[in-house]
Amino acid sequence: MKIAMIGTGYVGLVSGVCFSDFGHTVVCVDKDPRKIEMLERGEVPIYEPGLDALMAKNVDAGRLSFTLDLPAAIEGAEAVFIAVGTPTRRGDGHADLTYVMAAAEEIAKAAKDYVVIVTKSTVPVGTNRKVRDVVAAANPGLDFDVASNPEFLREGAAIDDFMKPDRVVVGVENDRAAKVMSEIYRPLYLRDFPIVTTDLESAEMIKYAANAFLATKITFINEIAALCEKVGADVKQVSKGMGMDNRIGNKFLHAGPGYGGSCFPKDTKALARIGQEHASPMHITEAVIAVNEDTKRRMIGKLQDLCDGKFNGKTVCVLGVTFKPNTDDMRDAPSLTIVPALVGGGAKVKVCDPQGQHEGEGLLPGVQWHDDPYDAAKGADLLVLLTEWNEFRALDLNRIAQGMSRAVMADLRNIYNANVARDAGFVAYEGVGRI
Ligand code: UGA
Repeated sequence: MKIAMIGTGYVGLVSGVCFSDFGHTVVCVDKDPRKIEMLERGEVPIYEPGLDALMAKNVDAGRLSFTLDLPAAIEGAEAVFIAVGTPTRRGDGHADLTYVMAAAEEIAKAAKDYVVIVTKSTVPVGTNRKVRDVVAAANPGLDFDVASNPEFLREGAAIDDFMKPDRVVVGVENDRAAKVMSEIYRPLYLRDFPIVTTDLESAEMIKYAANAFLATKITFINEIAALCEKVGADVKQVSKGMGMDNRIGNKFLHAGPGYGGSCFPKDTKALARIGQEHASPMHITEAVIAVNEDTKRRMIGKLQDLCDGKFNGKTVCVLGVTFKPNTDDMRDAPSLTIVPALVGGGAKVKVCDPQGQHEGEGLLPGVQWHDDPYDAAKGADLLVLLTEWNEFRALDLNRIAQGMSRAVMADLRNIYNANVARDAGFVAYEGVGRI
């Protein structure tokens, strides 16, 4: 089967590489010549464990290629996936569909034979019908179908999530498109993964509802964590006790500095906008967005308390700035709220992140970067654990404490605990939602 993938961002590139690994012939298209040149050289523009090796394997097998030439890429393709960005539109919080619609029009103009145009980007309910209208208007004689195929992979675990999904969601209007989609995913069905086939609108809605629900779960435990601190409970024990109820489940119940990333902040805002537009307010999602902002600000207050009320004149070491481990992505990372507050308050900030420096340098002005966490902590008055990279999970805390001028730890991911910190020589330790 021949597939074209429009957009080589996170979702597009991972999907393209994985589809080629299924045995399909995949051509990935992007408008950015720099990206295509990199990919042709075998370099992966993003940091995602395992992606470079899988990409090289399928390029060598002749199943995967990259191009700037969209018409050439879609020639003979049975399915064309749109996996371009849908960022938050400035001003109104809506998902910006400019890139999706531009791609749809280009596909329409270049297509000759029957093709299924599949939206993989996260798009508001009703977008696939708009894509259908745009394509029909741009090429009235074209025989085509549209399909919605939202993606649920997580950054840092993208290949595993794609290859072993909990489910695949496919929204279609007829059996013809359903057949093409099931052919594409057949290698997964053989491994017995459930496919949920729905209408277009339901598929679009599943993606927003799932992301908003997960963001709600995290935000709920973050709010419980704040209360735990007041009443003297330990949120780690609370989430363990809650999560063992199968109806609740233990995943996404880790309290922290607030969710970030390229998806939850954008998708919760877009869902709230869709609700407002249809006079069906998403009260819970709106509250989640607000509480998540409060959570990030609450962390700043916590750090300030650990610095005797003011950052001025203090040296603060921040370990981890990406929005989560195993990615170099800093989009909407809590560090973007927390680090500027430290710098703005007059602290000298020393930062270490296994992958975040490249992007972080432009986003976090006024900080000092270190490759080694022990160097970063040297002379600091406060150690802030902000992203739970494996590299930071088994630090020699004695060595860290000895190098600090005042051994105080703010563990915003609850990796360690007060006893462990005290035994290592820390004079003060604070986690999230624990006394
Ligand atoms: C998320 C979803 O998990 C994917 O299923 C979805 O496909 C993706 O968005 C998307 O829409 O494309 P991702 O943004 O890569 O994936 O990252 P997550 O692992 O979900 O983490 C999101 C944020 O929540 C991070 O800032 C993380 O630190 C935070 N988080 C997560 C917590 O604070 N506590 C938790 O228990 C879990």
